[in-house]
Amino acid sequence: MSTPGKRIEVMHGVNLDQLGRRDPLLYGTLTLPELEQRVAEDARALGLDTRFFHTNHEGEFVERLHALRGPPTEADAILLNPGAWTHYSWAIRDALEIAGLPALEIHLSDVQSREPWRRVSVIGDLCFARISGRGPDGYGEALALLRDELQAVEA
Ligand code: DQA
Repeated sequence: MSTPGKRIEVMHGVNLDQLGRRDPLLYGTLTLPELEQRVAEDARALGLDTRFFHTNHEGEFVERLHALRGPPTEADAILLNPGAWTHYSWAIRDALEIAGLPALEIHLSDVQSREPWRRVSVIGDLCFARISGRGPDGYGEALALLRDELQAVEA
């Protein structure tokens, strides 16, 4: 069963606008607009609405998270790939906590098998799930998990 009308905020952080120019072995060949289009299609198939946000500026990412909380609430759940901020931005962690929405952390590359500093996530414990190393397919899997989580919260 799908959850029509549930709003997923898909947030990309620093350097993710450079997809298509970054190492294709790690990040694939899709540009960010291409990835977003694919995510929107996957979401539609699951009966979810998506809105996309990207910035290279940490404060803007923080302020977007503040706005999501509302009032009025602007999203029902968050799918976020903060890029390198994942590993050290306590400001984004605090803002995600303030947003208070179900959140799923996603990475295109397998951060666990890369440099040690990428194994650290300062947002991980605020997210109900994390998907890493599945490339663009991971976003489809993440959306299905978000749909299930929203249904479970409602039940
Ligand atoms: C990333 C992984 C991060 O370590 C890196 O800084 C990124 C992208 C990913 O999607 O694999 O910019 O979040």
